[in-house]
Amino acid sequence: MTVEQAGRAALVTGGGRGIGAAIALRLARDGADVAVTYVRAPERAAEIVRQIEAVGRRGLAVAADAADPVAVTAAVDRAAAEFGRLDILVNNAGIAPYGPLEDVRPEEIDRTLAIHVRAAFVAAQAAARHLGPGGRIVNIGSSLAERVPYPGWTLYAMSKSALIGLTRGLARDLGPRGITANVVQPGSTDTEMNPADSPDAEYERGFTALGRYGRAEEVAAMVAHLAGPGGGYVTGASIAVDGGYAA
Ligand SMILES: NC(=O)c1ccc[n+]([C@@H]2O[C@H](COP(=O)([O-])OP(=O)(O)OC[C@H]3O[C@@H](n4cnc5c(N)ncnc54)[C@H](OP(=O)(O)O)[C@@H]3O)[C@@H](O)[C@H]2O)c1
Repeated sequence: MTVEQAGRAALVTGGGRGIGAAIALRLARDGADVAVTYVRAPERAAEIVRQIEAVGRRGLAVAADAADPVAVTAAVDRAAAEFGRLDILVNNAGIAPYGPLEDVRPEEIDRTLAIHVRAAFVAAQAAARHLGPGGRIVNIGSSLAERVPYPGWTLYAMSKSALIGLTRGLARDLGPRGITANVVQPGSTDTEMNPADSPDAEYERGFTALGRYGRAEEVAAMVAHLAGPGGGYVTGASIAVDGGYAA
């Protein structure tokens, strides 16, 4: 364990698996107590809590559907109450709606915007009541907010693009209190959402400069940097962790 985050507390939405789990574990290894939210996989969230506790930190799993703003706000308040403070919010929970433009239904648009955008907004609002100077908000966006090199991703790209504006606004609203807000934009990252051995993976790999998928830990490393002392003068920024996809 390092001391970068010693004595601090974090909440990672969707922290039970994938990129969120890597972020939660990295922050715990850096010394933070970490809460994670989940919606469908309580056993995965419980396993991450076990791993957080195994490195000597406090962990907490909270059921909170990101589509439900009341649940999201309650999860933020619960993490702050349980740990006695909140220093870091990572809005990571996400889905991957994909398909022909003509098939996208209004309900799917609403649900995607609720999970990716409204949840990040209300979680930041709730977190702002707990964060002090040195507080950090990191939103997990996507490289598809910068470039959309294949069809079928209009809804997803739109929702992730909204995080750029949200993040800039938060930087201005919270900067005077010494709180930063940034968006990290992963490219193709090997998770259950986007397995590196799927039939489409070779195609996606071809859009990167490095010719490979990223690992969740590589996204977590950037989040840890922004959430730690190294991120002190970075705010309102969109930072790619995409193997050169946007180059
Ligand atoms: N993998 C990539 O290539 C890639 C690229 C760019 C951006 N991203 C973004 O990175 C983030 C994490 O993606 P991932 O690849 O780690 O995906 P993943 O492996 O599918 O994990 C998704 C996580 O989000 C949670 N989640 C989904 N819907 C939720 C909801 N309604 N309420 C609360 N939690 C919810 C899941 O919780 P449960 O376990 O309970 O289901 C899970 O923890 C997402 O925002 C995604 O858009 C991923």
